[in-house]
Amino acid sequence: MNFSDSEIIASIMKDKGYSLSDDPKEADAIFINTCSIRDHAEQRILKRLRELSSLKKKNNKLVIGILGCMAERLKEQILEQEKIVDIVAGPDSYRQLPSLLQEVEAGQKGINILLSEDETYTDIIPVRYASNKVSAFISIMRGCQNYCSYCVVPFTRGRERSRNVSSIVDEARELFEQGYREITVLGQNVNSYLWEAKGSKVNFAGLLEQMAAIDPMLRLRFATSHPKDLSDELLQLMASYNNICKSIHLPVQSGSSRILVLMNRKYTREWYMNRIEAIHSILKNCSVSTDIITGFCTETEDDNHQTLSLMEWAKFDFAYMFKYSERPDTLAAKKYPDDVPEDTKSARLKEIIALQQKLSYNSNKNDTGKEFTVLAEGLSKRSNAHLFGRNSQNKVVVFPKNNHFPGDYVNIMVTHCTPATLIGTESDLQTPC
Ligand code: 5AD
Ligand code: SF4
Repeated sequence: MNFSDSEIIASIMKDKGYSLSDDPKEADAIFINTCSIRDHAEQRILKRLRELSSLKKKNNKLVIGILGCMAERLKEQILEQEKIVDIVAGPDSYRQLPSLLQEVEAGQKGINILLSEDETYTDIIPVRYASNKVSAFISIMRGCQNYCSYCVVPFTRGRERSRNVSSIVDEARELFEQGYREITVLGQNVNSYLWEAKGSKVNFAGLLEQMAAIDPMLRLRFATSHPKDLSDELLQLMASYNNICKSIHLPVQSGSSRILVLMNRKYTREWYMNRIEAIHSILKNCSVSTDIITGFCTETEDDNHQTLSLMEWAKFDFAYMFKYSERPDTLAAKKYPDDVPEDTKSARLKEIIALQQKLSYNSNKNDTGKEFTVLAEGLSKRSNAHLFGRNSQNKVVVFPKNNHFPGDYVNIMVTHCTPATLIGTESDLQTPC
């Protein structure tokens, strides 16, 4: 999401005559787009600010801006604590960045942290400055009001709002015409997307269907889905379009229903298992990945074992795993003590990571001997004679380059694998999945 926001910021600045620089030493202004999801993310930003202070000493005209969630969360406090910061701009005030820069040039600090009910930056065409020219992100909605008790996002990104359906479909079509072959649509909870205008409504399945109809050669992915909103309608739509990738990121957070209540996730372990069963009964060969938080308030060994057993049952193909990090002002920070000791959190995280590594490796081993259509993205890091790309299941596949280029679809037979990568050769069979 931040990557996509940075592309919007680049576009707003470019419109006012500014250009991008690769070199911080050359830049007149440095904007840092920040994340507040865990304390670690914020600590990294503070470290980056310390590194930038030597540049500011050499050039006192250098403007430094803190943008995004950390700006929204800490507000004026950052200006007081971090003297080198000149601009503080929350996620809904990127249009004001050029005028905030002018305020700084006039000798003031620039701050705007107003959250909006309707800003979706819908008319702004992102500058895709770090793109591989094959895959792109399109942000379809902003904000979240699920209020999971551990999560800072509803406070930093404001209320949920969906972007105009036709502007999304037009942006996707233009990307396809420019040669892009894969679009990932983004939102904090994409499956609650809803666009209402002139008495008609388009939900997420409806949006995805319009995008899938642009061209069979345009692949679509989406992130992130909330289990409570994962409908059979969406799964059936995925089944009917080959170009909607068979890969679902479905954060479970915990395998214990007791912890899920405290997390305010609004589903139980059994509900989640039912959704996984629905995925596999409606879709053939769909990968499922997840997010897991370990050491949430009051979590016991038994709760932890329930998470481990759910992971074994679901056989997740991939997972992002985190230690619980208490965020100020969230519901959990107000209501529950952060009472799992740090070393217990670390030990549980280690156990969860070890299990996931085994599951990911097993999933890759299961794919050896199978064939997939792979969208080539670029040269493999290890060899110029090989390309890498992804299959529909979002797994990275490495294969001989032969006469292929990024943006080509190539049918690959997987011959072997590592825990993180499938390796294969070109195949001439016509029915890969
Ligand atoms: N502590 C740890 N992990 C968190 N996440 C969100 N908030 C926290 C927190 N306070 C994780 C969740 C979410 C992912 C984006 O970050 O797993 O799905
Ligand atoms: Fe945070 Fe929950 Fe919203 Fe995801 S759904 S952004 S975890 S509040």
